[in-house]
Amino acid sequence: MAARRKDSSPRVLAILNGKGGVGKTTTAVNLAAILSESYSVLLVDADPQASANWWVSHNAQPMTFDITQETDATLLGKLKKVDDYSLIVVDMPPALTSATLAAVVPVADYILLPTLPAPMDLSALINTIKTAIAPAGMDYRVLFTKVDSRRLAEAAEAQETLNSLAIPVCETVIRTYKAHERAALEGVPITQWRGANVKEAKADYYRVAEEVQQDWSQS
Ligand SMILES: Nc1ncnc2c1ncn2[C@@H]1O[C@H](COP(=O)(O)OP(=O)(O)O)[C@@H](O)[C@H]1O
Ligand SMILES: [Mg+2]
Repeated sequence: MAARRKDSSPRVLAILNGKGGVGKTTTAVNLAAILSESYSVLLVDADPQASANWWVSHNAQPMTFDITQETDATLLGKLKKVDDYSLIVVDMPPALTSATLAAVVPVADYILLPTLPAPMDLSALINTIKTAIAPAGMDYRVLFTKVDSRRLAEAAEAQETLNSLAIPVCETVIRTYKAHERAALEGVPITQWRGANVKEAKADYYRVAEEVQQDWSQS
């Protein structure tokens, strides 16, 4: 069970996976945008590569959430004390042994683990969950990302594998759409992008936001 939050302290949602290229930053930026419709959101870019920061900063378009770059583990460990926001989304670096991870996992209320549904990615992630996430005791959920619409069966199979291991997984899968790459290039969340398949791309992340909030309402 998640630790009970003090009313003044923000909920901390960490987006993590030891691998790069699995959609962590895409998930962090889009969920920050969607959840800013209901919460005052700070997006913390804890990856030294600063992709989230780059995404929201190379365009003059105003964001509906604040963003800060922070890789100092000591400061990251104090995220719950940042009381100007009701939700802090942390975009994590692709590492499992970093000081960042050691600092953020204990203060996270909820962890979302984006992964590709491929067996090799999945087995690495299952290890991570067993060693670093489940023992920490907060709520978490795996999210399948970059799923080819023509290969939804593969994702469903991967979901079943996790279900059989009692690992919570989002029912929603994030499908692969060029729209996601284009939105990043243009420096806007998918919610503000206009173009082909944006409706589908946006709907996937709205559904994930709903699932996550459903979990929160029960914790
Ligand atoms: N659902 C998606 N459809 C298409 N491209 C995606 C999707 N999610 C992420 N990408 C692209 O994949 C690459 C890696 O995504 P990113 O979110 O940066 O992953 P990470 O933060 O885990 O390294 C980026 O070029 C991004 O635009
Ligand atoms: Mg990233």
